[in-house]
Amino acid sequence: MKLFLFLSFSALMLLESFGNSQETDQQALLQFKSEVSEEKKIVLSSWNNSSPPCKWTGVTCGRKHKRVTGLDLGGFQLRGVISPFIGNLSFLISLNFSDNSFGGTIPQELGNLFRLQYLDMSFNFLGGGIPASLVNCSKLSYLVLFSNHLGQDLPPELGSLSKLDTLVLSRNNLKGKLPVSLGNLTALRGLYFGENKLEGEIPDAIARLTQIEDLVFHMNHFSGVFPPAIYDLSSLTLLNMYVNGFSGSLRPDFGKLLPNLQIFTIGSNFLTGAIPSTLANISNLQLLDMEVNSLTGGVPPSFAKIRYLQTLNLNLNSLGSFSAGDLEFLVALTNCTQLQSLDVSFNRLGGDLPAYIANLSINLNQLFLQ
Ligand SMILES: *[C@@H]1O[C@H](CO)[C@@H](O)[C@H](O)[C@H]1NC(C)=O
Ligand SMILES: *[C@@H]1O[C@H](CO)[C@@H](O)[C@H](O)[C@H]1NC(C)=O
Ligand SMILES: *[C@@H]1O[C@H](CO)[C@@H](O)[C@H](O)[C@H]1NC(C)=O
Ligand SMILES: *[C@@H]1O[C@H](CO)[C@@H](O)[C@H](O)[C@H]1NC(C)=O
Ligand SMILES: *[C@@H]1O[C@H](CO)[C@@H](O)[C@H](O)[C@H]1NC(C)=O
Ligand SMILES: *[C@@H]1O[C@H](CO)[C@@H](O)[C@H](O)[C@H]1NC(C)=O
Ligand SMILES: *[C@@H]1O[C@H](CO)[C@@H](O)[C@H](O)[C@H]1NC(C)=O
Ligand SMILES: *[C@@H]1O[C@H](CO)[C@@H](O)[C@H](O)[C@H]1NC(C)=O
Repeated sequence: MKLFLFLSFSALMLLESFGNSQETDQQALLQFKSEVSEEKKIVLSSWNNSSPPCKWTGVTCGRKHKRVTGLDLGGFQLRGVISPFIGNLSFLISLNFSDNSFGGTIPQELGNLFRLQYLDMSFNFLGGGIPASLVNCSKLSYLVLFSNHLGQDLPPELGSLSKLDTLVLSRNNLKGKLPVSLGNLTALRGLYFGENKLEGEIPDAIARLTQIEDLVFHMNHFSGVFPPAIYDLSSLTLLNMYVNGFSGSLRPDFGKLLPNLQIFTIGSNFLTGAIPSTLANISNLQLLDMEVNSLTGGVPPSFAKIRYLQTLNLNLNSLGSFSAGDLEFLVALTNCTQLQSLDVSFNRLGGDLPAYIANLSINLNQLFLQ
């Protein structure tokens, strides 16, 4: 009897020392379900006591320990709030709530999930801020919160998530400046801040993100001269900066410093100066959008070398000098055989329309010269 008591006591101690157990997982999931309403009632019907959680729809468990390692409820049409009990799924590696209708806030208890690597909550109605507690999910490599109602400033703590590969915060209501600590996310390959209310200058510290391929700032209130730090990011393939308050000119050697760009958009800003002729050194450039700025000079003849150029938007600038010869760049563009859309409307281009305009790309389906 004494021995039995002692053994059960030890077992309890053991359980306690491990903190949570399979029962904790089950309890957490049922608690989560209780705060969720399903538009199609059937989707979580397997979440009941007749079978263990590892058999439930959307739940993945570890093979040996039978603890919940994955929760994939993407596109399940769930409503309601996300229960803080989710923070008790201590073996969770991957959490996907994308494409549901969750409201409320992201529970700060998520910070307890120290094994978490993938977190996708895109396409919901989550408000509040990004919880600083996420800094404790130190293995996080994929953090995607695209299209929610997240507000407030970015927590500087984000800069400690040193394993982050992809950070997508686009289409929210985030405010304030970018924290300098972002420069510590040196493993990042994609950083997406588009369509928020972020402001101020892009910190010089981003020059340290040397692995980065996609950098997305469009439709915010960023300001200052074209960020010099960007010239250090030679791996960039996508650079979206349209609709912001960036000013100054592009460096003449722009194209030599960012030779891997495929898409560069900086329309609707306050750029001045000339279009750098070295853009022609970017051999894979497909989309170049510099519309609605105050650019002067002409389209460099070197553009004949941009073999894969598909879209060129230079409308609403101050290009040309209302004189014959302004349209000579069209000769160069006849070499861009992939060109589909060319917009040079609302500039200062003069002269007669040259006959060789007929030799522009056979793929051209939009030409704006008004
Ligand atoms: C409980 O889940 C099982 C599948 O595991 C399902 O067949 C059964 O209909 C569910 N029970 C209820 C009451 O939804
Ligand atoms: C999450 O689920 C959606 C489907 O709704 C899918 O498109 C997306 O790739 C998933 N995310 C992850 C990280 O697996
Ligand atoms: C799980 O999480 C909830 C809320 O965060 C908490 O109240 C509860 O005590 C936790 N522990 C267990 C074992 O369920
Ligand atoms: C991270 O975890 C530690 C230890 O549990 C805790 O003291 C700290 O407050 C947590 N950080 C945040 C930002 O929640
Ligand atoms: C960046 O990381 C270093 C060490 O890894 C740390 O000393 C520094 O405080 C961090 N900087 C920011 C701005 O978080
Ligand atoms: C850039 O292009 C110019 C001509 O337009 C060429 O002379 C130069 O070699 C190119 N540089 C690189 C690094 O490709
Ligand atoms: C256009 O390409 C041809 C060869 O494909 C080349 O000979 C010619 O110099 C190019 N034109 C310009 C303006 O660079
Ligand atoms: C158009 O191209 C053809 C073949 O490359 C050339 O013979 C012709 O002269 C060009 N037309 C104009 C108007 O430049």
